[in-house]
Amino acid sequence: MHTLVAATRNQGKIREIKSLLPDFELLSLDDIGFLEETPEPYDTFEENAHTKARAVYNFCGKDVFSEDSGLCLPALQGAPGVHSAYYGGLPRSDAKNNEKLLNDLIGIEDRSAYYKAIVCLIWKGEVHYFEGRCYGKIAEKPSGSNGFGYDPLFIPDGYTQSFGELPISEKQKLSHRGNAIRAMLDFLHKQV
Ligand code: IMP
Repeated sequence: MHTLVAATRNQGKIREIKSLLPDFELLSLDDIGFLEETPEPYDTFEENAHTKARAVYNFCGKDVFSEDSGLCLPALQGAPGVHSAYYGGLPRSDAKNNEKLLNDLIGIEDRSAYYKAIVCLIWKGEVHYFEGRCYGKIAEKPSGSNGFGYDPLFIPDGYTQSFGELPISEKQKLSHRGNAIRAMLDFLHKQV
């Protein structure tokens, strides 16, 4: 079984990723003893994902992938985008982020949005990127407590319920992260 490091400490993400990569031995940052916090200071998901993957690769020399993701609204020129995690200010809080997003949308008709995930894979020393998106719209108010982040506000296209209300298994089928990881998986299955 091939070993792959997932450059995250987020247990929710690790669970989601494990179910998508059953043929790989998946190691987390805690498993490899990587304790540093890697900042995400860049304006692109690609640079943020690459910086983290590179730091972990330099640390352990193993094949590794990292993911950076966020919510983008065309009506807000792509915001919150790479700033999704702390859109409502520091310390980061999902409640503050959701509140700011709703305030920003007052008087704006176009509530379309998409989640975007970029996976950066360092495989045999070479860098590869994979993108996944999930399109939907922003509800008038939050509902449900499944998922995390903006999920109580995000209604995926073709549904009437938010990701906060839909079962996690349904989110996994549609999600940006799932789509990006499935694209990486297609690549990996051609390699091993
Ligand atoms: P990061 O990729 O861990 O830096 O996450 C960026 C931020 O984007 C998160 O803190 C959330 O605010 C938002 N985000 C990314 N993916 C999701 C998702 O699947 N649901 C809800 N919010 C998300």
